[in-house]
Amino acid sequence: FASHALTGRHVVISAGPTREAVDPVRYLSNHSSGKMGFALAEACAEAGARVTLIAGPVNLATPDRVQRIDVVSARDMQAACELAVTDAVAAVGAEQSVFIATAAVADYRPAQVAEQKIKKGDKDDEITLTLVKNPDIVAGIAARAERPLVMGFAAETHAVEAYAQDKLARKKLDLIACNDVSRADIGFQSDDNAMTVFWPMGDGVGRADLAKASKAQIARQLVQLLADRLSS
Ligand code: C5P
Repeated sequence: FASHALTGRHVVISAGPTREAVDPVRYLSNHSSGKMGFALAEACAEAGARVTLIAGPVNLATPDRVQRIDVVSARDMQAACELAVTDAVAAVGAEQSVFIATAAVADYRPAQVAEQKIKKGDKDDEITLTLVKNPDIVAGIAARAERPLVMGFAAETHAVEAYAQDKLARKKLDLIACNDVSRADIGFQSDDNAMTVFWPMGDGVGRADLAKASKAQIARQLVQLLADRLSS
């Protein structure tokens, strides 16, 4: 593992879930632990990068030499990521900047946040919550003219490779790391992971298969793949 693989680079990483308020006491969210994003932040800092970690609500310690910004909702996370990427590009240039999207951003949020706690009515056996789509943070950053190198993640329960390659193209990513979250031994809350990484290569895709290992070990391998893309 090249310990200086990212010297001079500025890496911005989104991590964890987002929380979308329903009313003052309730929210919609998901089971993301943030572990993969925090492991990547640590590995990037070890590899010499300046690291800004934009974290949703998680119970994890901030890695050494990592600047952490806590956010709650998808829209907060988008604003923080956009700002951090703009700062990175201004500081070191687009070619030296990297955005890694590990966050499990809520796809939808309640159309309206009730100002007061929604009360349960005696006659209401059913209520309806209208949801609206959240912005796609990584696609927005990948669509910039002055863009960093962009890596996305795809957690799927089926047709993992097909969905990942579709996202790679649709979101205009430089790399995508995917894993099968239907396996109980890897992904989400687990300390281990196994991933397949794709990147555009000629008319097709390049591919690397990372065997099951700790998220720290997987993170180091992902840093190496990133460094390879930066120098290619
Ligand atoms: O479409 P899907 O959510 O599976 O895409 C996963 C990738 O896109 C991840 O890298 C995730 O962090 C990113 N994403 C995002 N903003 C969203 C949804 C997903 O940055 N609103």
